[in-house]
Amino acid sequence: MPTETVCPNCGGSGWKIIERADLSGAERCDCVFGERARRLEENAAIPPLYRNASFDNFALPRDNPIASRDLANVLLTVKAFSREFPTGKHLGLLLVGEPGTGKTHLAVAALRILIGRGFEGLFFDYQNLLDRIRAGYNQASGSADREAYRFALDTEVLLLDDLGAHRVTDWVEDTVTSIITYRCNNKKPLIATTNLPDPDAGSVMIDRSTALGKPDYKTSLADRIGSRARSRLFEMCKVVRMPLVEDYRLRRSI
Ligand SMILES: Nc1ncnc2c1ncn2[C@@H]1O[C@H](COP(=O)(O)OP(=O)(O)O)[C@@H](O)[C@H]1O
Ligand SMILES: [Mg+2]
Ligand SMILES: [Zn+2]
Repeated sequence: MPTETVCPNCGGSGWKIIERADLSGAERCDCVFGERARRLEENAAIPPLYRNASFDNFALPRDNPIASRDLANVLLTVKAFSREFPTGKHLGLLLVGEPGTGKTHLAVAALRILIGRGFEGLFFDYQNLLDRIRAGYNQASGSADREAYRFALDTEVLLLDDLGAHRVTDWVEDTVTSIITYRCNNKKPLIATTNLPDPDAGSVMIDRSTALGKPDYKTSLADRIGSRARSRLFEMCKVVRMPLVEDYRLRRSI
């Protein structure tokens, strides 16, 4: 059986006795803060694939100087957001770009920095969150599902991954709008990622792969989450567009 290591300074009580001359008292032990960060990280529900994602292990492509420079700028912006949080200009961060460009990696790296500084953070996959909120209406579902909606509203920092990756229904649009509006009105930070393009994020909106004949308009973020949620999101978030780098999953396998 592994034994837990007990803090030598406080014997695990979280308090250390201070004795000075004829005065003695108790003071919080430093280990309490490390312990809090560990517990916060455990409760953040970060998926195993991203549990170690950090700024340090975010690599820049070596074979493409332009992509490398652009990605380095993105990295600097996300680092600055985490460093200045919560007093920076924006309370939220929205990463927009193609699949495999490292959005979730960077979003988690930022969340982990905030957790390390004592903020409570929670990772939610967008589709999974909506499924759980929907399941929560069913009396037979577990209490975790019933609480998902409250968690999404109330957690200190919410990471909403893959925003808009879901078919559109009025219910989805109303639910995501209420979460984003509530968080925006109450100044509750949100970190979000999306593969969906948006003209204000500098995305190209016309799909030229069907260039024979007339070009198609791509499905936009507003198409999927509704224009109200989309505009609140842009209001509260620093919007960062990922450069066109090759899908990291493919890059790595070469
Ligand atoms: N620049 C990078 N350096 C290191 N790992 C990366 C980088 N970009 C992506 N990854 C890794 O590749 C996988 C896919 O990246 P991910 O962040 O999920 O992309 P996206 O969310 O944009 O689809 C993840 O395992 C992620 O940790
Ligand atoms: Mg992702
Ligand atoms: Zn201690």
